[in-house]
Amino acid sequence: MNNNEPVVLITGAAARIGAALVEYFHQRGYRVLIHYRHSAEAAQALARRCNEQRADSCALLQADLEDHQQVLQLAQDALAVWQRLDVLINNASRFFPTPLGAADESDWHSLMSSNLKAPFFLSQALAPELAQRQGCIINLVDIHADKPMAKHSIYNMAKAGNTMLTKTLALELAPEVRVNGIAPGAILWPAGEAPNPELLAKIPMAKAGGTEPICAAAYYLAKAASYSTGQILNIDGGRSLSM
Ligand SMILES: NC(=O)c1ccc[n+]([C@@H]2O[C@H](COP(=O)([O-])OP(=O)(O)OC[C@H]3O[C@@H](n4cnc5c(N)ncnc54)[C@H](OP(=O)(O)O)[C@@H]3O)[C@@H](O)[C@H]2O)c1
Repeated sequence: MNNNEPVVLITGAAARIGAALVEYFHQRGYRVLIHYRHSAEAAQALARRCNEQRADSCALLQADLEDHQQVLQLAQDALAVWQRLDVLINNASRFFPTPLGAADESDWHSLMSSNLKAPFFLSQALAPELAQRQGCIINLVDIHADKPMAKHSIYNMAKAGNTMLTKTLALELAPEVRVNGIAPGAILWPAGEAPNPELLAKIPMAKAGGTEPICAAAYYLAKAASYSTGQILNIDGGRSLSM
């Protein structure tokens, strides 16, 4: 094992954008801590592929981010693996509509925990180690943090909070730790949903983004954006220009 290799913790990393981030950072020399909740098989397959390429370069951490004790335990477990953390990517998220009149407290708990509360408490627990490494935090926000999506008030509020989390921690953790966000537009359609032609018509670049531009942005924020903190980078094909 080479303890000079930097370490990234990516939450919700078994599938979709999270899994793409795992492969992107791993291929560029990072050791990767893959956090997952339910997607054990996908997480194990991803970790196996990474470890076949470089031994002991990938580890798995299971936690339900709706459970506060498990969030705190996840931070401890992450540090225990290689006694090192350079980058925290808060990617895990629940996303579902909560039309007014139909939302209940468990919807609030689920959306707020995954999108806002867990990113805050993970950041708090891991900030001392990140500070020692001159590391960074990257939050996956959403262009709808600023411009609301109808019938998704709790998700919108959670992501708006995540934007403020990014800015306020950037101030508090400077100069040791940079904190930035990525606001995706339509990147991947929700699992099981077909492309939405009405939404596509509103995207200047006329397509969904796919995971590559998100990964490139995250890698830029981690490695190259040495004088940027508290910034939210929209990766949305121009969608936010006319929302
Ligand atoms: N996809 C897009 O086009 C898009 C657009 C705007 C913003 N974003 C943001 O980009 C990020 C990634 O998007 P995505 O579509 O790839 O995400 P996703 O597939 O909806 O969710 C990512 C992972 O989050 C994990 N997760 C959810 N609730 C959790 C909990 N309570 N505890 C632990 N893990 C939990 C799940 O892990 P398990 O499967 O292991 O349970 C899931 O695989 C999210 O923050 C999302 O809000 C995405």
